[in-house]
Formats: sequence, C-alpha cells, structure tokens
Amino acid sequence: MTSFSLLLWIVLGIALQLALWLGISFWRTWREYQSLRGGMPGQVVPAEATPAEAREPAHVAAWTGFRPFRVERRVIEDAAGTICSFHLAPEDGKPLPAFLPGQFLTFRLDLPTEQLIRCYSLSDAPRPDCYRVSIKRVPPPAGCDVPPGRSSNHFHDHVAVGDILQVRAPGGHFHIDRSDAPVVLIGGGIGITPMLSMLHWCLAEQPGREVWLFYGVRNRREPVMQAQLEALAAAHPNFHLRFCFSDPLPEDQMGRDYQHHGRVDVDLLRRQLPLRPYHFYICGPTPMMESLVMALEEWGVPDAHIHFEAFGPASIKRKPAATVENPAQQSDIVVTFAKSGKQLPWQPASGSLLDFAEANGVRVDSGCRGGGCGSCQTTIQSGEVAYRNPPDYDPEPGTCLLCTCTPKTSVTLEA
Ligand code: FES
Repeated sequence: MTSFSLLLWIVLGIALQLALWLGISFWRTWREYQSLRGGMPGQVVPAEATPAEAREPAHVAAWTGFRPFRVERRVIEDAAGTICSFHLAPEDGKPLPAFLPGQFLTFRLDLPTEQLIRCYSLSDAPRPDCYRVSIKRVPPPAGCDVPPGRSSNHFHDHVAVGDILQVRAPGGHFHIDRSDAPVVLIGGGIGITPMLSMLHWCLAEQPGREVWLFYGVRNRREPVMQAQLEALAAAHPNFHLRFCFSDPLPEDQMGRDYQHHGRVDVDLLRRQLPLRPYHFYICGPTPMMESLVMALEEWGVPDAHIHFEAFGPASIKRKPAATVENPAQQSDIVVTFAKSGKQLPWQPASGSLLDFAEANGVRVDSGCRGGGCGSCQTTIQSGEVAYRNPPDYDPEPGTCLLCTCTPKTSVTLEA
C-alpha cells in the first residue's frame, strides 16, 4: 500500500466517524424534540411518561378533623420582612405523616369576631417532627372596608411562638411526581412556597434529577431564602437556579443578584432550557399563570406535563370558556342563591358552582379551590349536585363543596 492510499484510508475513516457522530447527535436531538412535543410521530405517549402520582389516588389524610399544633419557631425569610415561616410541631408529640411536596395545610383560626379557614402551602420537605408554612403579609389597599389578608396578617401580627393552632392534615392535588423526569419549577411571588417543598424533596430524595427553578419577583427585597437557594445551587450541579427581577433596584446587580431582567415567560424558558421532556410546575399570581400555561401549550408542551396551582380569588382556565350568550351552553337548570336573593340559569361553561357564584357577584368563602379545605362548604336547601372528582374533604350531610361540584338538578343554596 502506498503512503498516498494509506492517507486516503485514514481520511475516509475519520470522515466516516464524523458522519456517524453527526447522525447519532441529530437522531438524539430529534427524539428529544418529538418527546417534548408529545411523542414520536404516530406514536402514543407511553404510560411511563405520565407522572406516577397523576395515576394514583389522592393522598389519604393521616388524621381527620383538626389537630392542635404548637408554633415552635417564627423566621422572617425576605429582606422586606413581609414573609414569615412558621414551624409547627404536633402538640401530642406523635410523628407526622409524610405529605406530597406541593400540598398545603388547612388552618382554622378562631378569632374574636369570626372564624377563618385558610390554606397555606407547606414550604419544606416532609419530616416526621415538624411542618413549615411560609406566609406573606398582605398590605391593606386604601379605602377597603374588608381588607384582604385577614388570615395572613393575623399570622404575622398575633401568632407567636408557643401558640396553639388547629390544623387539618396535608391535602391537595398539586404535588410533584416521583419519576426521574427533568423538572422545571416556576414560582411567582409567594407562589414559591410549594416549589420550595418540591425542590428540597427532589434534592434530598432524587439527587440525580435535573431541576430548574425560575423565581419571579420584583427585586432583591422580595425573594425568600435567597442565600439558602444560592447555596443549594452551588452544592447541587443538577439544580439550576434563575432569579428573574421584573423591577430591579438601582443597587441590584445582574449576574450577582439575578439572572434575568423581566418576568418569567416562555421566551426565557426556550432560551434557557435544553430540549428535554420537562414537567413544568407553576404557582403564582393568576395573570402570570394564565399567560405561562397558554404559552407552554402553544410551544407544544403536552397538557400532562403542565401542572399548576393558582392562588388568589380566581382559578386559571386553560382554554377560554364559552360565552354566556352561546345558546349551546344553556341548560334548564336554575341555581338559586337564597341569602343573596339571586336566581340564575346555570351555565355549564361556568366551571364549578363556586366560579358561577363569584361570576355573578355572590360572595362565598374559599381556600384551596380543590375540594381539600372545606372553606366553601355551603348548605343545599333543595336539589342535587354532582362532583367532578371525589373531594378530599368530606362535606357535612346536607352541604356541598362549591369549588368542586356542579348542579345535577335545579338547586337552592344557602349562600
Ligand atoms: S375552597 Fe377548599 S374545599 Fe372548596
């Protein structure tokens, strides 16, 4: 063999290896892209791609009714001093059941003038001796007769170390799956609390899992536990932390205090995330959630990969609801709100009876909006209702949970 033909063979060999490597890289990227969009062409998404928890029954409450807990510690968690963590230990000293990261606790506050039932997300990984919730103070808007945040501000102003609080077992359907699928956690404002629970659980129980956390706030005065989150990111190569400041202070430094100027949106996610079949968990103000969920769907992320929990007075809708004027959406069912003196034709497109009540100006207390806390329990004076899913909370006989039911017949409710 001449030296020329030897050289030719070597060049051919290198070219072949290069072509093989390029082919494999392209094939992998194509598979990830298709997986992100919901499956290979003509292929059904395998059952394993569905989070295990989504296929399993909801978590069974470890105790029924309310159980007394003692406040062990209070910790202010942000530079602005508006978010306080409450560490709660059961007064009976018995071990606590584990919860699913993302779930909430329901509190009953017996105030001198009223009784309030409110839900707050657990903000730490499960542990047998103590639960933690992190609560934001709500500033009263000027000229408001019944200021919002009565419960949150009561916690800040009146709940002290040593106090006893009445607490229902952890509940809620918004929680992380136990697969090893890469996960993107997105928290806006105080919506970070369930994400903290998911994050701590993942880092402790699934150290190899890829986790991203996008945390949207206005500036450096607002993030909770910023230094701890940065320390966790430094210690765990699989954890990627991104602070997004929508209104940074003059002294806030890009790169040091935050990584993105603006809100968390899909353009940012597209720029930051490699192509992988991520599961997205989102909690924050309703406008942020609505725009993000819709944008993720438009991006091609399958519905089963988008998990969210709204807080505040409205729950988010994935698709625009049909308008009330559409005759196809009308029914013969009439809903009467006895105390409010309103009699209205039921609109199936309204969602739940709670959504329907609120859309028509009927004031009803609510907490979790998912059948877990009992806040929206209302007496049925006549008629029947149906539940979309069996609620975690057992309503008393003769009552219903407006947030998870619809009328089966014409119905008269006490509200
Ligand atoms: S709002 Fe919690 S059960 Fe309805």
